Amino acid sequence: MKTTEYKFSFEEYASIEDLNAADGALLKQARAVTDTAYAPYSKFNVGAVALLANGTQVSGTNQENAAYPVGICAERVLLGSAAVLHPGIAIETIAITYHNTTGASGHPISPCGMCRQALVEFEDRTQHPIRLILSGMEGKVLIIQQAGSLLPLSFKGNDLK
Ligand code: THU
Repeated sequence: MKTTEYKFSFEEYASIEDLNAADGALLKQARAVTDTAYAPYSKFNVGAVALLANGTQVSGTNQENAAYPVGICAERVLLGSAAVLHPGIAIETIAITYHNTTGASGHPISPCGMCRQALVEFEDRTQHPIRLILSGMEGKVLIIQQAGSLLPLSFKGNDLK
């Protein structure tokens, strides 16, 4: 028997002001796109903006449905759009934030389990790590160097072979 240790670390910044210019601009964009979320049921607007390896930006917001499970998270809307609009292009960084219309938005959120799986697949297919910038509309910002680190021992295409 052996024990394998998994180490996880992330950066923490007090606010958007402490980010470098490119990361700050991406987070600012993500905060702006929360307005395009369709979240009449949860009233929890999530915005995500990606910087692609070709320098372009792609955004996604959550799109809910009266049949609740049909709703899609901002991250997966973004990944689908990126794959269609820029086939084969890797994602460098995604900024994710939210606007909770029922309360404060000062603590960072991180992707749900299903989105973590989708992010891992995107990293795998493009052979490129995706950095994550996580925040709310104000306050603390977390930076994770590789989305896949949020889903250790994840199930991948290779496992099907
Ligand atoms: N949601 C996202 O879009 N991304 C996340 O990372 C967490 C949750 C959405 C799903 C649903 O529309 C609403 O937020 C409340 O769960």
